[in-house]
Amino acid sequence: ESLWDAYSNKVTTLMNNPQHQGEITPEEAEAHGNKLIVADFGAESCGDAVRLYWEVDPKTDKIVNSKFKSFGCGTAIASSDVMTELCIGKTVQEAVKITNIDVEFALRDEPDTPAVPPQKMHCSVMAYDVIKKAASLYLGVNEESFEDEIIVC
Ligand code: FES
Ligand code: FES
Repeated sequence: ESLWDAYSNKVTTLMNNPQHQGEITPEEAEAHGNKLIVADFGAESCGDAVRLYWEVDPKTDKIVNSKFKSFGCGTAIASSDVMTELCIGKTVQEAVKITNIDVEFALRDEPDTPAVPPQKMHCSVMAYDVIKKAASLYLGVNEESFEDEIIVC
């Protein structure tokens, strides 16, 4: 089996046509009376970087909109896209519980078939790390205060 077949259709589709790529401007968030959080994370091992935008309703801590920008590989783009999807509608406190496993699982076509080859599992970790960064900025706490639930393959 070639690497060509090691990616799910969801990864292929979203890396080429992400639904939440872009940015949320401060004006946009302000117009809705919401708070804008912009978090950056870079993966030192591969040089890929992601920027996550959260528009948060300060009354409920709910993430009402989320977008991302990426200097990442295709898997990082697909992972970031489902990550923003998983964040929308959750409170910041709920979103910080999203792990890289949730992100990878959301990219699977079948529950028992990995979405990406083993070499690409780390790309979903970046999506997880940037959530922790965004939550730490919003809550004004250290990122280390969030429990680590990543599984690096
Ligand atoms: Fe660019 Fe592999 S890191 S092709
Ligand atoms: Fe670095 Fe995918 S290769 S995030």
